[in-house]
Amino acid sequence: MPETPAKARIGILISGRGSNMAALIEAAGQPDCPYEVSLVVSNVPDAPGLAFAAAHGIPQFTLAHKGMKRAEFDALVDHALREARVEYVALAGYMRLLSPGFVEQWRGRIVNIHPALLPAYKGLDTHQRVLDAGETRHGATVHIVTEALDDGEILAQAEVPVLEGDDAESLARRVLIEEHKLYPAALADLVRR
Ligand code: GRF
Repeated sequence: MPETPAKARIGILISGRGSNMAALIEAAGQPDCPYEVSLVVSNVPDAPGLAFAAAHGIPQFTLAHKGMKRAEFDALVDHALREARVEYVALAGYMRLLSPGFVEQWRGRIVNIHPALLPAYKGLDTHQRVLDAGETRHGATVHIVTEALDDGEILAQAEVPVLEGDDAESLARRVLIEEHKLYPAALADLVRR
């Protein structure tokens, strides 16, 4: 029997709903998926996404960041990831800037999903800003994380049309459907490189 190749060990960082985290966990459940989710980290101890991770038996590390220095907090996250033998970090609605030291430790092995067609519309409120600008197309991007916000090598993008009558909510919903397909596929491609 040929040996099954070891799966890449992923750590997912969340702060909230965790629907992209759920998409990654579900994808990891497929036998041919090249990664497994080894740890979910949250800086918000009651983040709604944690219940899904728990229901799937994924180990968790949760720690409120309040009152801690960024670098100090990130060092504890880094330690938890290493204890879990994580090899790649996926940000999934993680609403905190990472310290340069953390980015350096994981360079080339941290990815993020951003709800816009980068390099356009970095930052927050992308859906409303796209609507305000009268764009006809919008989408999502998976990219390597660097010290700069929503920057770094673009790994994959999915496009959606902006439809007449769209508001930020309807547009966000349509983009999110694409995010849930895009992120697992882009992460699989990265770990197979
Ligand atoms: C997603 O739109 C993602 O692109 C952005 O934050 C949102 C997180 O949603 N980075 P969820 O927590 O994955 O449901």
